[in-house]
Amino acid sequence: MASSTLICETQPWKDLKSHVEDIKKTHLRELLSDTDRCKSMVVDFDGITLDYSRQRATPGTMDNLYNLAEAAHLKEKIDRMFNGEHINSTENRSVLHVALRAPRDAVMQSDGKNVVPDVWNVLDKIKDFSERVRNGSWVGATGKALTDVISVGIGGSFLGPLFVHTALQTDPEASKCATGRQLRFLANVDPIDVARNIAGLKPETTLVVVVSKTFTTAETMLNARTLRAWISKELGPSAVAKHMVAVSTNLMLVEKFGIDPNNAFAFWDWVGGRYSVCSAVGVLPLSLQYGFTVVDKFLKGASSIDQHFYSAPFEKNLPVLLGMLSVWNVSFFGYPARAILPYSQALEKFAPHIQQVSMESNGKGVSIDGKPLPFETGEIDFGEPGTNGQHSFYQLIHQGRVIPCDFIGVVKSQQPVYLEGEVVNNHDELMSNFFAQPDALAYGKTPEELQKENVLQHLIPHKTFSGNRPSLSLLLSSLDAYKIGQLLAIYEHRVAVQGFIWGINSFDQWGVELGKSLATQVRKQLHASRVKGEPVEGFNFSTTTMLTKYLKESSEVPANPPTILPRI
Ligand code: F6P
Repeated sequence: MASSTLICETQPWKDLKSHVEDIKKTHLRELLSDTDRCKSMVVDFDGITLDYSRQRATPGTMDNLYNLAEAAHLKEKIDRMFNGEHINSTENRSVLHVALRAPRDAVMQSDGKNVVPDVWNVLDKIKDFSERVRNGSWVGATGKALTDVISVGIGGSFLGPLFVHTALQTDPEASKCATGRQLRFLANVDPIDVARNIAGLKPETTLVVVVSKTFTTAETMLNARTLRAWISKELGPSAVAKHMVAVSTNLMLVEKFGIDPNNAFAFWDWVGGRYSVCSAVGVLPLSLQYGFTVVDKFLKGASSIDQHFYSAPFEKNLPVLLGMLSVWNVSFFGYPARAILPYSQALEKFAPHIQQVSMESNGKGVSIDGKPLPFETGEIDFGEPGTNGQHSFYQLIHQGRVIPCDFIGVVKSQQPVYLEGEVVNNHDELMSNFFAQPDALAYGKTPEELQKENVLQHLIPHKTFSGNRPSLSLLLSSLDAYKIGQLLAIYEHRVAVQGFIWGINSFDQWGVELGKSLATQVRKQLHASRVKGEPVEGFNFSTTTMLTKYLKESSEVPANPPTILPRI
């Protein structure tokens, strides 16, 4: 709901501003000793438990946050999203990624049209195509089955599919379905990424999926042309029809590129790039690798959260609670960052994906009406799987800056290991850390406790932990395709909740444009200098100096090496 009143001008915001000063006087040790409070801060839904009792919040804080949600018209905004209204106002578009995982018989409208049948047409086409590739009835130019897939795309056309692929890789059902197959991702325009992707692969058994919403992204298109050359060089230009397919909203450009439009898989402008993993962007490469049945479970998991987000009361609504708590931490405590710490190696690409979902969505400086915001939005998201992160950046989180942490744990490991004679099984060892870290952050360790342990006096300041550092824990019953879909949707909607409360447009990304246009200027200069010997001009002193040095020192390297074969 576009409103010219900024959220910071409302009474609930002002109430929270004064309430936070009271909370600051209370240590988490005290808050955690109140069992009723803690009980009220545990929410279960469909195999997922959220415990937010280690947030610096009381039931009173939550009431204030619900008031803030009301002042921000949160429920109306969620409804407007599901109703397909053009809530992405700067691009005049609906935001309907929830339709990508809606059941076949659902009705979801954009511009007066039910989009669900279109979604299922594409899903059916993916199912059919991926089955034909997987069972060898779709073959390459030399008649061989296509066992290897390179998905070429960047940003939202890469990070979500990579996260899901990495998460499924060790799931027993998914990995069985992927036997004998490989899925790789080519994202960076760095030629090293090309070399790494094609290393060990043969064009005759490789299928390239070019994934780009716009089909104009410079990195993706150069990488796509490079792989087209790799295929054509070995198999001839006509092989492209059998070895390259595309996922895009721009089917005209797909055809112009030379890919048969019959081998193109559509999606729509009401799907934002970073919200597109449930469209053909993710579903096609993942179905090629794991089969459509597995991917369908992933979609169903996301859909379960969509329905929960739409209908659950705020007090029980996982994405709403998470979003409100993030607003609390960013806007009232002023914590600038958030660490995403999954205690599962399978989730190693979750934080990089959420970095884009969250930071591209909520890193904004103006309200949805274009008014400059007198408060910060978004947070710096980063993370690594535990326990690896513990041996890296946790020092800063324990004794340096305060960074609210999301601990994500799994009850049943995808790959359990039991060693005879060990105190616990390997997953229990991992999970011991998942349970220990939040308490270490919350309670800390006092000088008095250290004295009782006879710690040397001069070491006491170094070994003291202030504690009072907030975190929340999400415990998933397992990590299969369904749960991965749920986790994805929880975070997607959480980011939307934050943006809805802050009153910004979480669905555009104008901030990435300036760098792109400046790169075009540099590209032109590099061409003019290399081909026509023109001097560097039109840039500031710094860029001129660095560009000139780069041109001079790289002049011995041939500008267009004659081969695209990897040297490794
Ligand atoms: O970097 C900006 C961006 O537009 C992202 O939002 C998007 O996910 C990415 O580029 C890739 O865009 P496309 O899918 O159009 O190639």
